[in-house]
Amino acid sequence: MSKFIIFGANGMLANAIRNNQFFNDNISFNSKDGDITNFKLIEGIIKKHKPKYLINCAAYTDVTKAEIETDRAFQVNAEGSKNLAILSKESNCKLIHFSTDYVFKGNKNIEYTEDMPVDPVNVYGASKAKGEEYILKYAPKSLIIRVSWLYGTNGKNFVSTISKIMRERNELKIVSDQFGKTTYTIDATEATIDLISKDLEGIFHYANDGINSRFDFTKKIYEYLNNISSFECDIKPISSDEYPDNTPRPKWSILNTSKYCIATNKRINHWNNSLFHFLNNMQAKTIE
Ligand SMILES: NC(=O)c1ccc[n+]([C@@H]2O[C@H](COP(=O)([O-])OP(=O)(O)OC[C@H]3O[C@@H](n4cnc5c(N)ncnc54)[C@H](OP(=O)(O)O)[C@@H]3O)[C@@H](O)[C@H]2O)c1
Repeated sequence: MSKFIIFGANGMLANAIRNNQFFNDNISFNSKDGDITNFKLIEGIIKKHKPKYLINCAAYTDVTKAEIETDRAFQVNAEGSKNLAILSKESNCKLIHFSTDYVFKGNKNIEYTEDMPVDPVNVYGASKAKGEEYILKYAPKSLIIRVSWLYGTNGKNFVSTISKIMRERNELKIVSDQFGKTTYTIDATEATIDLISKDLEGIFHYANDGINSRFDFTKKIYEYLNNISSFECDIKPISSDEYPDNTPRPKWSILNTSKYCIATNKRINHWNNSLFHFLNNMQAKTIE
């Protein structure tokens, strides 16, 4: 028996979760040995380990590729989530699921609260929205945590990629007209623990405090890294129309996180501080 079963174990968020001692009593499965689209396989795993919680970190997360691999995105993000919802209800365990700000259109200067209707602009967002719908239908006592612009160790993410390429190039062009909130995986893990500990259910938004654009964020990364070892890279703002990937993305995608703060009585770290924590850790690992 294990208290937690973690699906999508090799992913970025799963990595932070598995490294937190709160989740020590876990058994984890990756996309090969725990394919969430395979109902019978997942049913067997749950029956064998009789967990108290299913932690679903498994997802199809390539926003650009999802426009072409639509069926696969829906199979994993919608049907896979539905499988877990049905099985969590049947097995009397609680499903903890992660979703995204991309369920919203993000075309107005508003902050999205949990009760606002979803209205995705791309296939990835639509597949995640369908997953949420299934979960609320088949296992309404589940906990769904929507995060945005996730970054952390052990994963393909904006901060790690940009930190590397800004040292290799003299100039970087970064989109400055898409705004959002970033989420550090270590903070998202702590938030997940807070919500589980209070036995909360339904949808919650969680992201680091403060709004930025990819351009603002990149400037901050540059400022930090340049302080440690000086190098030149000219960071230039561009509009999303100038960016080669034309997958539709929300322009103003701000998750309102008040519901989390009120329910848990916790404050949220500002993106600046969390970014520094991550970059510090990254630097320390490079030096080791
Ligand atoms: N990354 C972001 O910026 C972001 C933003 C908002 C919300 N989110 C949400 O946050 C959650 C965690 O994201 P993340 O960035 O940590 O994702 P990630 O690093 O891409 O990890 C997802 C994991 O899911 C696995 N997976 C894919 N298909 C699977 C299947 N059929 N069965 C089991 N596992 C499967 C992948 O394995 P393979 O690599 O072997 O395919 C991968 O290890 C997701 O729900 C995502 O939608 C992410």
